Amino acid sequence: MKLTKEQNEKIEALLSEMTLEEKIGQTNLEAPSIAGGFDVSFEELIEMVNDGRVSQDEFQKMMAGAQRDYHEEDIRLGLVGGMMGDDPVKANELQKIACEQSRLGIPLLMGYDVIHGLRTVYPIAIAEAGSFDTDLFERTAQTAAKESRANGINWNFAPMIDVARDARWGRVSEGPGEDPYLASCFAKAKIRGLQNDRSSALNYVAACMKHFVGYSACESGRDYNTTSMSVSQLHNVYLPPFREAVREGAASVMAAFNDLNGIPCTLNPYTLRTILKETYGMQGFAVSDANGIKECVVHGIAEDEADAGIQSVNAGLDMDMGTHIYKEHLKQAAENGQVSMEVLDDAVRRILRVKMWLGLFDNPYVDENTIRQYQTLPKEHLEISLEAAKKSIVLLKNDGQALPLNKKEKISLAGTLAADRSEVCGAWAMGWKSSDCVSILDGLKNCGADVTYFPCGGPQGEINEEEIAKACEEADTVVAVIGELVTMTGEAASKADIEMPGKQRRMMELFLKHTAAAGKKLITILMNGRPLALGWEAEHLPVLVEAWHLGVQMGNAVAAVLFGDENPSAKLAASFPSVNGQCPIYYNHPSTGRPGSKSKFTSRYLDAPHEALFPFGYGLSYTDFAYSGLNVTEESEALNIQVTVKNTGSREGTEIVQLYMQDITASLVRPVKELKGFLRVHLLCGEEKTVTFSLQKKDMGFYDNEGTYRLEDGSFYIFAGTDSKNCLSQKISLKRQSVC
Ligand code: NOJ
Repeated sequence: MKLTKEQNEKIEALLSEMTLEEKIGQTNLEAPSIAGGFDVSFEELIEMVNDGRVSQDEFQKMMAGAQRDYHEEDIRLGLVGGMMGDDPVKANELQKIACEQSRLGIPLLMGYDVIHGLRTVYPIAIAEAGSFDTDLFERTAQTAAKESRANGINWNFAPMIDVARDARWGRVSEGPGEDPYLASCFAKAKIRGLQNDRSSALNYVAACMKHFVGYSACESGRDYNTTSMSVSQLHNVYLPPFREAVREGAASVMAAFNDLNGIPCTLNPYTLRTILKETYGMQGFAVSDANGIKECVVHGIAEDEADAGIQSVNAGLDMDMGTHIYKEHLKQAAENGQVSMEVLDDAVRRILRVKMWLGLFDNPYVDENTIRQYQTLPKEHLEISLEAAKKSIVLLKNDGQALPLNKKEKISLAGTLAADRSEVCGAWAMGWKSSDCVSILDGLKNCGADVTYFPCGGPQGEINEEEIAKACEEADTVVAVIGELVTMTGEAASKADIEMPGKQRRMMELFLKHTAAAGKKLITILMNGRPLALGWEAEHLPVLVEAWHLGVQMGNAVAAVLFGDENPSAKLAASFPSVNGQCPIYYNHPSTGRPGSKSKFTSRYLDAPHEALFPFGYGLSYTDFAYSGLNVTEESEALNIQVTVKNTGSREGTEIVQLYMQDITASLVRPVKELKGFLRVHLLCGEEKTVTFSLQKKDMGFYDNEGTYRLEDGSFYIFAGTDSKNCLSQKISLKRQSVC
């Protein structure tokens, strides 16, 4: 986020002209208030959408009809720094007031949750992360940025880069999974995609990385719950994606709701000021999460709203999302010295810097042509959406090579999720129209399959055995789609039970019975937004395809995989447990003194496996890959690692080669394995390639409990393989002080 000398001078000139009220105005992020039009409160309405009493379509219609208050007069008075929304015509109107009718003409930030695409929705992050394709991560963000700008949005509340290890937490769907290295690669690519296409003034937005920090470590996976962790864990696991995003130039950050070791992140000076601004050198600004400042009173850390506002701004939280606490209390606090002008100026300077870097002073408006151009989904965006969806599908099990199917087979497609267009986009997808969404039924029809649809049952409600029996009789193959409703994942959607919801297991038992009786094939497709506990499904169902919530092109992507037009290549970005009680479960756990095994006094359960059912990095293909010849050699500043991968099966395919290490002896207990690199390798039948990784010695260290990065001498295992469990390994000893 570099500014020219002139731009910095303009910021200083503005600051020197601003009144105290105008300065505070910049720290105020508004949302349009809903003025009338509903029989219930807006909060209750949102709950009704979340629990399914009001459908997304109905909600969108109600919102379109509701009257809103956009705080125009406050904008005119310079009392608003940013506004939330996605209406380009309104955005232009409001920018016009800010730029042409307010005293200093400072443009507005227009913020919105564009997490995995706006109108063109891409796979949810946990799915996309499994493609291990950083170029793809960047392109989906880049096209999302363009669509945002075309809709008047210049500030995206993304990427969500919380490393998440507890699948009970509903928001695992929004982030890149359990591994800090993969999450860091994801974070960097997303920042590049959102912010770096400067080929036109309307191609990029300001990113807002979130949620800073440790939000995903909420105790027992319950959203908004407390988090506590050691300093080393914070620095080694949860901070790296944020650090890397700042290095990539992230323009802003959102403080998380949770308390971290007793201090809410909204007013936490250690995380906001010491780490983010002083240590990482972040140039942009920090915003609270919605209502975050007010909630500090409920946390019991602030006496009242004024106190919460004072503590927050002093801690380094520059902007208030939605509470008006800064607007109402900072003036008095500044006048009586509880907040210094230096602190306030720093906050305002950071916000102005982002506006300046965005080019808003020169280009505040959306061009009418651009608005029109984006009324239908651009072809290029749809192609990327299809590519992303295909690359995110994980083949979990394929007994008897039942997949791929032949297009001549007669297929019974079953399960209510299979035909529901409103279930493909996933959590935190805000801008789709159902006419743009391709369900699995649509996808099968689009590719000319001989398919008949039988609802049979879904995540909620009863199942219909008669229909199940009929579906099995009338087809060569039954494709059953089961999983979660979109509303079962995302924010405020934590679950204590992450086994298959509703009566779907019973439904699959009946499918097993009837397909066995009729001698038919049974394929199961999973649609879900979190790792599910699939012990029963993995044991009983012959074929399992993890299809997540893949966005608008979901059905076409699933059809391509079912018929073998696409050979699945994705891997899991988060471990799947067999049963609930294994949560949290993640591959890169610290070594215990008694690693789990079959013997009694080890770290294990009496009634469940101690290992993941499907580990991080796991995913099958329609072909097979064999690994050989791992060779690790030491160079002055790096390890050179080579491994040969051969396609030993009968189709071409892509393998994601994974590099891990283990620091065998260190001054702190280290993880049993840590991802350090990956590469997508395409191989024709019989082809082999030798893949080379260069692991920098400086990247083999860890943070201690003082937050100091340590590079220690000692022995390491280097692993290369197809997933976090199945790897070749080689031991190497290093003396590395020379590169500290
Ligand atoms: C609450 C969510 O936690 C956050 O992710 C989102 O960006 C804000 N609300 C704004 O909608």
